[in-house]
Amino acid sequence: MNEIVSYYDTLASTYDENRFNNTYGKFIDNQERKILDRLLTNKNEVILDLACGTGRLLNYASLGVDASSAMVEISKAKFPKKTILLNEADQLIIENNSIDTIISFHFFMHLEERKIDAIFEECNRVLKKNGRIIFDIPSRKRRQLLGYKKEDWHGASSFSIEDLKLKSNFEIKRTIGFLFLPIHRFPKFCRKFLITIDSFLATSFLKEYSSYLIIEFEKK
Ligand SMILES: C[S@@+](CC[C@H](N)C(=O)[O-])C[C@H]1O[C@@H](n2cnc3c(N)ncnc32)[C@H](O)[C@@H]1O
Repeated sequence: MNEIVSYYDTLASTYDENRFNNTYGKFIDNQERKILDRLLTNKNEVILDLACGTGRLLNYASLGVDASSAMVEISKAKFPKKTILLNEADQLIIENNSIDTIISFHFFMHLEERKIDAIFEECNRVLKKNGRIIFDIPSRKRRQLLGYKKEDWHGASSFSIEDLKLKSNFEIKRTIGFLFLPIHRFPKFCRKFLITIDSFLATSFLKEYSSYLIIEFEKK
């Protein structure tokens, strides 16, 4: 088992509480849901949540995949009627051309580019024609601006929009900047106003200076 999966195996029982039951986590979860609500409007789609973890976003998906047995156990307890596979993202036990949309959050940032490319290949195989992957990734331009230095695999990868354009099996349909301002650090009463400014900046020509990019890739 790889280092990342064993880390999540150990973290599984406290993941929801630690990561999402605090001001920052709730804010992120809420903002990501707003974006998914906007992008996932067709209720008939087959949607795969890739690296679904404890099932935080599984309400959007028909099926989930994760390589950590402890994370899968929790997501199965939350969603007993959904198919949730214990499976490596680059060796999916899913048929060719069977998925309309893949969503994958807080995942690719952990992986080296070679692994990401292998997973994109696999996504390409399981997606139907014109199928989509909607995922987040730290923005390389923001990191360059702030002189970010990676310490370990947690935030191993970042991409610019130009880097993503080079991924041969997919075409970028949409890019949304995510977290331009550190809104969660401001008092609650001014957040609504700041979210409006943040949303404006995150769709402007400055969007690549947001902390993350949310990408909608379409299979070529
Ligand atoms: C930060 S969690 C994200 C979970 C969920 N997507 C969310 O947003 O809450 C990262 C997940 O990636 C899973 N993971 C790591 N490497 C994987 C791999 N090679 N294949 C499938 N899942 C993997 C971990 O087990 C963990 O559940």
